[in-house]
Amino acid sequence: MSHRALRGRSPASAGAVALVVLCGAVALVVTAALVLAVPGQEHTEGDLPELASARGVDLGVAVAVAPLREDAAYREVVTGNYTSVSAENTMKWDSVQPRRGAFDWGGPDTVVDFAESNGLRMRGHTLLWHNQQPQWLSEGAYGADELREIVRSHTDALVGRYEGRIGAWDVINEPMADEGGAIRDNLWYRVLGENYIAEALWMAHEADPRARLYVNEFGIEGGGTKADAFYTLIADLMERGVPLHGIGFQSHFIVGQVPEDLAENMRRYTDLGLEVAVTELDVRIPEPVTDARLQEQARDYRRVVEACLEVEGCQGVTVWGVDDGHSWIPDWFPGYTAATPFDADYDAKPARAAMVEALARRARQGGAIRGAAAV
Ligand code: G3I
Repeated sequence: MSHRALRGRSPASAGAVALVVLCGAVALVVTAALVLAVPGQEHTEGDLPELASARGVDLGVAVAVAPLREDAAYREVVTGNYTSVSAENTMKWDSVQPRRGAFDWGGPDTVVDFAESNGLRMRGHTLLWHNQQPQWLSEGAYGADELREIVRSHTDALVGRYEGRIGAWDVINEPMADEGGAIRDNLWYRVLGENYIAEALWMAHEADPRARLYVNEFGIEGGGTKADAFYTLIADLMERGVPLHGIGFQSHFIVGQVPEDLAENMRRYTDLGLEVAVTELDVRIPEPVTDARLQEQARDYRRVVEACLEVEGCQGVTVWGVDDGHSWIPDWFPGYTAATPFDADYDAKPARAAMVEALARRARQGGAIRGAAAV
């Protein structure tokens, strides 16, 4: 049983408050009994943004530009449930600089303005990635000096434009090969060598010295060859004093497969002095979607939030997509669907209640490491 979950504004809670005022303590007991009698709704009335803030973490969501501009209900899910936003696509290279030297700020400005006018923090996503590159970049035959200058001018333009307004940047996205322990053989690696990672971090640091700079990766949430090789890469960057502040655990999971050692893997990085964040959480369900699978998905969402709360230095959890109707999953994983905490009608699924439960129950030990503008 789901309901539209707007921040602290649900008819049920408003009704309960009115009864208390009008009828006193007896009515309160009756009302509470009625609320608890509705299956699945015991924990759905929580105010996620305030619960997250009280725990010292951000609860974020990746947003797309078109529904942000056109769909008030979409915007309400964001403002009613989250404390930060990531740009799902519009800050990627093909959107920002579709032709060399020609920048398109329409989408990024929409997201940043929306965030600021609603008191939401911003994560920037992303600078160097092997996907969603414009043709002029991916097909250009650049030498090292020229490519370095291209990266610098892109970084100066994008990071510099939002200096002081975007708290954290995914500077490097998915630097490891999909499987195994090798560095990904991408454009940057081929032309600039492995040091492209350090170079890009230095450039981003120069463009906004206050921004928290991240390397963002998938498949590192549990242990294994890729996770270990990634750790070695990161430990080396830290050893060399490169301006790296955080590790993004993308966390695209299949229902029932959240790794047991998620918190343990996060701690490897906080032990190096880094912060960590879950940056792209979704939990995809194989069709058909049943109540049992939605409950299992809810447990997975709760476990991820709990893992973040357990780790001192985990900045928060960002969900990848506002609702199931605006999720990348069905296009990319045929046969899988329903990966976010809201269905395509923007009704809250059990996963939302599970995040409320995790945030309301877990006492955080100490505060998060958080600079003024960091996410
Ligand atoms: O913008 C075009 C539009 O003009 C065209 O009409 C339409 C037709 O298919 O495609 C549109 O582009 C799509 C784009 O999303 C914007 O919606 C691309 O086809 C589609 O491939 C692209 O998918 C994005 C994917 O990254 C690309 O790799 C997903 O939305 C986005 O959620 C996903 O995000 C990534 C993170 O950045 C990094 N981690 C993995 C994650 C999932 O792949």
